[in-house]
Amino acid sequence: MGVISKIEFGDFQTPLPLARRIVSFLAESGELPDTIIEPTCGLGSFVVAATEYFPGAKAVFGFDINPDYVRETVKSTSRDWESRIQIECRNFFEFDWQTFLTKQNGRVLIIGNPPWVTNSALSSMGSENLPEKSNFQGNKGFSAKTGKANFDISEWMLIRLISALHQREGCLAMLCKTSTARKTLKYAWMNELNIGRCSIHFIDAKLHFGASVDACLLVIHTGLSESANTAVVYRDLSFDEKISTIGLVGKELVSNLDEYQKLREIDGFPYYTWRSGIKHDAAGVMEFTIENGQLMNGKHQFRQIEEAYLYPLLKSSDVANGRTIPEKFVLLTQKKPSDDTSAIEMNAPKTWSYLLENANTLDQRKSIIYQKRPRFSVFGIGDYSFSLWKVAISSLYKNCRFEVVGSYCGKPVVLDDTCYFIPCETENEARFICNLLNSEICQRFLRSLIFFDAKRPVTIDILNRIDLKKVSEYLNQTEEAHPLLSRAATFENERQFSLVFEKNVKYLPKRGSEKK
Ligand SMILES: C[S@@+](CC[C@H](N)C(=O)[O-])C[C@H]1O[C@@H](n2cnc3c(N)ncnc32)[C@H](O)[C@@H]1O
Repeated sequence: MGVISKIEFGDFQTPLPLARRIVSFLAESGELPDTIIEPTCGLGSFVVAATEYFPGAKAVFGFDINPDYVRETVKSTSRDWESRIQIECRNFFEFDWQTFLTKQNGRVLIIGNPPWVTNSALSSMGSENLPEKSNFQGNKGFSAKTGKANFDISEWMLIRLISALHQREGCLAMLCKTSTARKTLKYAWMNELNIGRCSIHFIDAKLHFGASVDACLLVIHTGLSESANTAVVYRDLSFDEKISTIGLVGKELVSNLDEYQKLREIDGFPYYTWRSGIKHDAAGVMEFTIENGQLMNGKHQFRQIEEAYLYPLLKSSDVANGRTIPEKFVLLTQKKPSDDTSAIEMNAPKTWSYLLENANTLDQRKSIIYQKRPRFSVFGIGDYSFSLWKVAISSLYKNCRFEVVGSYCGKPVVLDDTCYFIPCETENEARFICNLLNSEICQRFLRSLIFFDAKRPVTIDILNRIDLKKVSEYLNQTEEAHPLLSRAATFENERQFSLVFEKNVKYLPKRGSEKK
């Protein structure tokens, strides 16, 4: 198989010793299936291991899209199983899992290791190895068009399988990325599928597959009399070392349910509106440093342009490392999304010529967000981008440190789109809010929510859960907090604010109406 096909089919075959280790772990933990199904069996490690550890199984099915793999798997299985085993060439996406599972008898075990590839990687290769309907998570509007609609093929497959299996007694045990495991669980919990006794067992993907990803065995039991929306995370393929319990609270996953329960009072109303930084998708053109007193762009070209549209810039690595004196500048063609960029020609002719010189790069920015917007637009821009004081955090780093960001060379410092921030009016306000956010209690709360192995551990949804009023109460700083939070909330939405602050009632419905 060529490299492209290997990528296209997410082809990382499970070594037989690992498959044996997984199946023996399931057998030791009491699994006793009548029917075993490997939906993307590849060279058949799990099929072989399952026949060794579950000799009493009545039927074993192995499917794969690759006919060579199907032939190899048939060869690897013992003759004793001939009457009970079916290995067939099938495309997962064209198979009616619901009907197939309805026809099976007794307890079902679905086991395997679905393809390791994302839909966007497949689209960029022009591959057709994709499900017909991609937006299965029901993302709407912007999310459907951008990052959130990117998903792992295995996530789609696992959701399809668990949706078909959940009403009958069974078990799904699949190797996958830890992020895929969480998304599958979240989907099942949000959609109230009948699942319970869920666990995540870390595996060393570098050791077994030579791949640098956070991977695990996801185990989900189905068709139980009592379902639950929690899953225990274990260090390895055993129940010896528990790391945490994850679960669904409201509509979001929580990474450490025990710690969260202790601090859940802090889960509330954000008062401020968290913003993300500016997106331009053309660092080579839009970002500059000063070299020998001259402006040099990201392509290492020296260019002279007016200062009018240049702003000092901080990126994630700066914020996460406490570097708040900018070394970069960014060319911002707008102050509001509706601004007509053609005004630059008059206001700053050198800047306009520079934009025209780089029009090819800028016009070809792929993201759908630039379509139907003025030429050379930037994204994520508004009055808040230009506030003189901000409290910022990097979304990519694990240290969760908030930093106060001020102005530089007489201009507000702006942040890139890997950072989140809240705009503040004064330095005092920014320092006070930053201290609340960096306080031990708030950091503990944040850490109970964050999944640190995610690509973007800190999300706006998480930041929005921090109730700064509650944090200030914990720290006995309500007097100072009151006027600031009051003004921030009034600014964003007067009505919401009065409900929350003055009457001292919670605006949001109390979280935790989740199943126990
Ligand atoms: C990560 S490998 C794992 C193989 C096997 N499950 C194992 O554990 O060794 C993924 C497998 O999925 C198969 N595959 C990819 N797309 C498929 C599809 N649409 N339908 C069925 N199998 C597919 C590939 O051929 C490959 O064998």
